[in-house]
Amino acid sequence: MPPAGVSWQTPLHTLWHKQAHRLKLHRTNSTREKLQMHHLIKQLPRAIIIGVRKGGTRALLEMLSLHPAVVKASQEVHFFDNDQNYARGIDWYREKMPFSFPHQITIEKSPAYFITEEVPERIFKMNSSIKLLVIVREPTTRAVSDYTQVLEGKERKNKTYDKFEELVIDTNTCEVNTKYKAVRTSIYTKYLEHWLKYFPVEQFHVVDGDRLIIDPLPELKLVEHFLNLPSKISHYNLYFNATRGFFCLRYNFIFNKCLAGSKGRIHPDVDPSIKEKLQHFFYPFNQKFYQITGRTFNWP
Ligand code: A3P
Repeated sequence: MPPAGVSWQTPLHTLWHKQAHRLKLHRTNSTREKLQMHHLIKQLPRAIIIGVRKGGTRALLEMLSLHPAVVKASQEVHFFDNDQNYARGIDWYREKMPFSFPHQITIEKSPAYFITEEVPERIFKMNSSIKLLVIVREPTTRAVSDYTQVLEGKERKNKTYDKFEELVIDTNTCEVNTKYKAVRTSIYTKYLEHWLKYFPVEQFHVVDGDRLIIDPLPELKLVEHFLNLPSKISHYNLYFNATRGFFCLRYNFIFNKCLAGSKGRIHPDVDPSIKEKLQHFFYPFNQKFYQITGRTFNWP
């Protein structure tokens, strides 16, 4: 239960966090004591969005933080996938977390976790019963989204970049190029099987990233259930913004926001025959993924 005077309905953690930030309270030790007096502490995550890159990880984290019992780490922390950060130790990681009340759960997202070999073992060592969220999209769409992000980065630096079709097909064999990272990352089952060497399948929840775009609430209800949280996120918290073309977030009557423009880029047109070839390539991996997770998607 929340402490006296704190309602489930009011996402006070948002107000607290903003206020603490504004006053730069976190800078002094005496401040730490003041925050502790208000029962605000930094807690290690009890759930992590481990991926997948371009699956909708930011949208999922932001939407979950609409829940009054959820507090998010705003930045990607990259503790478990970055050797230098990992060497800084668990107290460094905890320090990166936002202040929260003891009854709240902290969530972070770092999509590189899903595909980085060392990560499952490292997370297991921190907390073997942690809850793991994986948000996926139709693999070919995700690969195009991944490509689009890299392309935009190159264009910003006035650099050229090959066409998607040239990268995803190996010119020597005319087969799908599994050396290309955007292709590899979409072979979800390959990475999941590695995670399953450390965690039982019950500790994972798969989120449908394509559905989160067009109809987020049912997906969020499933996550609330998985996290053993009372169902609090409602239609009130999510509104479709026609200009943005996406659902945006309403925390309360004061705060609302849409995700940054880097989320929801326009994808380049892809040669339909290449798209089909990719879909054909991903098909058997997808079947395995459905079988393992117990969640089936209408992917081609
Ligand atoms: P696109 O840019 O391909 O459209 P990630 O946060 O993991 O990088 O995922 C980015 C994707 O989140 C975007 O991919 C976008 O489609 C999706 N997304 C889901 N819900 C969204 C929302 N409400 N606002 C903006 N993007 C959203």
